[in-house]
Amino acid sequence: MDFLDIDALCVNYNQHNHITSALKDVSLTLPQGSIGVIIGPSGCGKSTLLNILAGLNMNYQGKVFIDGKPPQESKETALILQEYGLLPWKSVWDNVKLGLQIKGASSKETAERTKNILNKLGLLHLKKRFPIQLSGGQRQRLAIARSLILQPELLLMDEPFSSLDALTREEMQDLLLNIWKETHLTIVLITHNIEEAVFLGQKIFVMSASPGTIIKEIDNSLAGDYSARGKMEFLEMCNSLRLGLRGRDEHAPKKLNP
Ligand SMILES: Nc1ncnc2c1ncn2[C@@H]1O[C@H](COP(=O)(O)OP(=O)(O)O)[C@@H](O)[C@H]1O
Ligand SMILES: [Mg+2]
Repeated sequence: MDFLDIDALCVNYNQHNHITSALKDVSLTLPQGSIGVIIGPSGCGKSTLLNILAGLNMNYQGKVFIDGKPPQESKETALILQEYGLLPWKSVWDNVKLGLQIKGASSKETAERTKNILNKLGLLHLKKRFPIQLSGGQRQRLAIARSLILQPELLLMDEPFSSLDALTREEMQDLLLNIWKETHLTIVLITHNIEEAVFLGQKIFVMSASPGTIIKEIDNSLAGDYSARGKMEFLEMCNSLRLGLRGRDEHAPKKLNP
């Protein structure tokens, strides 16, 4: 069995007796230690899928297993959201150490690991600042530090870099790749950025418009190659992904007449 194993997953939302089908018959697998990227149009159910994996929504049909366990029993998962989830009233240092503190680690171990991780993410010199005093990229690095300090086995990221400018975004992609090369943790990242999917996704799962299902699965040998961006092969892969997304997206804007 693969580390991540999803089979025939269906999710419906019931709001005021109106049922919305958010995910329909989603099946995918991901081996341990690899990076899977899920890409699809807005509203297709990407966040729904990630929330299921994070154990935040147990209202689903089908099979979902993380390392052989259902998500709600899998304790080694970290979730990073687009809005970072930082505590604004705590300093950088305190934001990072909190998770370990809650887990009951000794103060010596907590201090050491907090220092190490902040150093690794280039934030140690900012340890006394508060989240509001950081740039978007620094905040995102802080969110990653908060997750990594707990040494998760699965890192879930929901459009984590979408509010960053293009350059910072690429820096963050490089940073994530460095972290992955060091830790080989399993990562599931959601994006609607095609270049990001091709740069990071060893496996790319393309979702259809709502109700979302996987319409294409790509084994991507270009993932993780810092020099790939801008190369012909990379651009071709991006183009083919773009066509795949457009071709099957019935809700995509139609060409306007002049
Ligand atoms: N809590 C909820 N209650 C009702 N409908 C929801 C809820 N969350 C999401 N939806 C609906 O489910 C669909 C998928 O949403 P979502 O997973 O957020 O998509 P994505 O992340 O791909 O943009 C959308 O139609 C959305 O309106
Ligand atoms: Mg979403």
